[in-house]
Amino acid sequence: MNDQYQQLAQFYDSFVGKNRNYPEIATELSEIIGKDRDLLDIGIGTGIIVEYLLQIQPLYKITGIDNSESLLEQARKRLGQKVDLYYQSVSELDIAQKFDVAYSRGGAWTLVNDKSETMLASHIFSSADIQQSFDCVAKHLQEGGRLIISSSNAYGDNVVELDNDIIHKRVATTEFIENECYALLDYRFYQNDDLLAQQTLKLRLLSYPTFTNMLEQAGFVEQAINPGKCYIYSKK
Ligand SMILES: C[S@@+](CC[C@H](N)C(=O)[O-])C[C@H]1O[C@@H](n2cnc3c(N)ncnc32)[C@H](O)[C@@H]1O
Repeated sequence: MNDQYQQLAQFYDSFVGKNRNYPEIATELSEIIGKDRDLLDIGIGTGIIVEYLLQIQPLYKITGIDNSESLLEQARKRLGQKVDLYYQSVSELDIAQKFDVAYSRGGAWTLVNDKSETMLASHIFSSADIQQSFDCVAKHLQEGGRLIISSSNAYGDNVVELDNDIIHKRVATTEFIENECYALLDYRFYQNDDLLAQQTLKLRLLSYPTFTNMLEQAGFVEQAINPGKCYIYSKK
């Protein structure tokens, strides 16, 4: 599997820690989850959000999947036996279990605002594979189970000072490649002007009508929109 995070992995926790309020994100997510307990984290990364979720509710039974071996390794170290972790892409999800809630917190897909339009930003590129990923999640949810896709602010330019005089710079551009729209995020890490690491993340952008139609085909109904936070779907 293509690990888009390999070069970023060593800096991941330090830069997301400066960019996001994970305790607040976990609290908001747990309020939506409510009394449900069996959770699937789609793109668990280094497991930060899960660590906070388990502090809020130790009875959550969480399964995390990710197709980045470098980030998943950090999740294994962070979470140990507290969760089940699988090196799997959501478009090939195959776990002998059904969940109450599946969520993608900036994981395999996220929602971004481009001017006044909400777009799905997907680490999975082809429409067929995106459709398959929604189908796979639907198959792994209980009847009435919910899918939560979070919104993200991680798609503009930014410069952040990390520890040890390391500077993180992100430059975001949008490009059309063979009539498909992509966000390209160029991540660079410098220390005293020396380039330590560089990686460009590519995300396919889909319009609201397009991804809504795909989710409906997979058997999801839009249940609620929490502007700037997340979209919630339930399985028919
Ligand atoms: C921006 S990171 C977010 C990680 C974590 N959810 C967090 O909040 O810190 C996106 C994650 O989604 C994972 N991902 C991307 N495509 C995926 C796929 N097809 N299946 C599973 N995970 C995927 C990436 O490897 C990465 O760990």
